[in-house]
Amino acid sequence: MRKKIVAGNWKMNLDYNEGLALFSEIINMFKDEATGQQHAVVCSPFIHLHSLVQLAKGYHNVGVGAQNAHQAEAGAYTGEISAKMVKSVGAGYVILGHSERRQYFGESNELLAKKTDTALAHDLTPIFCIGETLQEREANQHFDIIKSQLVDGIFHLDATQFGKLVIAYEPVWAIGTGVTASSDQAQEIHAFIRKEIAAKYNQQVADDTTILYGGSCNPKNAPELFAQPDIDGGLIGGASLKSRDFIDIVKVFN
Ligand code: PGA
Repeated sequence: MRKKIVAGNWKMNLDYNEGLALFSEIINMFKDEATGQQHAVVCSPFIHLHSLVQLAKGYHNVGVGAQNAHQAEAGAYTGEISAKMVKSVGAGYVILGHSERRQYFGESNELLAKKTDTALAHDLTPIFCIGETLQEREANQHFDIIKSQLVDGIFHLDATQFGKLVIAYEPVWAIGTGVTASSDQAQEIHAFIRKEIAAKYNQQVADDTTILYGGSCNPKNAPELFAQPDIDGGLIGGASLKSRDFIDIVKVFN
């Protein structure tokens, strides 16, 4: 059975003390309210990672992740952080290919394929993001875009490697806009992604892949989205900055 996950993406928010305070609240609420079946992941800025991992010790269903890692092992890449460094502080996850990285930092599918390889080589679980822009959806290109992001970004992996990935479908037009994909729209794409995985690998691999939805997900719309058969949780931006909202989304699975 594939894992259901609710992952928070703090983006470039919260200084060190604010991040620790929020994560402490999240951990306390998780301890008091989670049933044991739920998996929460928090993807913070790099500077928080080590401390969050320490705070999460003993909570097996709470993971910590980065929001990016470089494709190279090490070297003269001023200002960058490697997958090995992320792993060395005990983080388990790394978001790769978020649309903001694709848009503002020019990250291509080809580059992301390399980042995925490096992250997997260091035993990190990539949360690999894909999704179409509004323009692409209006031009009816969304299926083609999703397919090329899969093919060029992650379909070079063998089935064992692929089994370690989490995928996040995040329509760019829904990120931070307050406009959520309807549960039908999201389910349609999630089913398409799973069908493509089955065609490339096999049905078992497809059935075992966790596919998250992201884009203006909140405690109100999460129950309907997560009730869809191919939606296995969420990647949460804005609402992950409020402990109550984030935990309420985590608790949609029970
Ligand atoms: P949002 O962000 O929930 O604020 O729309 C989601 C994301 O970018 O992962």
